[in-house]
Amino acid sequence: MNVRTAVFVSGGGTNLQALINARAVGQLPCAELSLVLSSRADAYALTRAEKSGIPTCVVTKARDMTADAYGEALLEKLRENRIELVVLAGFLTILPENVIKAYERRILNIHPSLIPSFCGKGYYGLRVHEEALKRGVKLTGATVHFVNEIPDGGEIIAQKAVAVEEGDTPETLQRRVMEQAEWLLLPKAVEHVAEELIHSRR
Ligand code: GAR
Repeated sequence: MNVRTAVFVSGGGTNLQALINARAVGQLPCAELSLVLSSRADAYALTRAEKSGIPTCVVTKARDMTADAYGEALLEKLRENRIELVVLAGFLTILPENVIKAYERRILNIHPSLIPSFCGKGYYGLRVHEEALKRGVKLTGATVHFVNEIPDGGEIIAQKAVAVEEGDTPETLQRRVMEQAEWLLLPKAVEHVAEELIHSRR
C-alpha cells in the first residue's frame, strides 16, 4: 500500500505542484498525496490541491495558543487522515516538538540553500537568497532533510547545487533554485523515503 503523505504549506505551493505533477506522470508511485495542510487560509497552495482533488485543511496558530496545543491540533489532523509521512513544502511555521517526536524520521523539509549555509532560524523564502547574494557566493542550491528539533539541522537526504549568475536579484535566484533544484529534488527525495517506509513495514 502507498504511503499516506501530508504536504504542509503556507504560500504559493510550487513545490506541492512539483509533487502533484510527479505523481501524475508516475514518478512518485510510493507516496499518495492524501492531505494538504496549510498554516494560512489564503495560501494559493490550497487552490492547487483542490484542483487536483487532494483533501485540504487549514490549521492556524492563534496568538494565545501554546506550541503544544498547536502541535496537538496538527497531530489530530494527521491522525484523522492516517498520515504516515509529512513533507514541509514552504511551511513557514515552526513545527512544535510534539509533532517532531511523533513523526521521527518521517518529516521532510525542503530548504532553498546548501545547508549548512544560509539556514536556521529566520532563514526562509526570499531572505535566504538575499543573504546568499549579500555574501557573494557563486554556488547555492537546495537541500531536502529530515526534520528534528534543530531548525534545518536534521539529517540531509539530498542536495543540488545551482550557479549564481551576474546580475541576479533575490527573485531571479529564487526562481532558478526552484527550477533547477527544488522541483526535481523534492519528488525524488519523497519517493526515496516513502519506498524505504514501505520496505520497513515488511
Ligand atoms: C521554497 O523556496 C522553499 O524551499 C522555501 O519556501 C519556498 C516555498 O515556495 N522554504 C523555506 O525557506 C523553509 N525554510 P512554494 O510555496 O512555491 O513551494
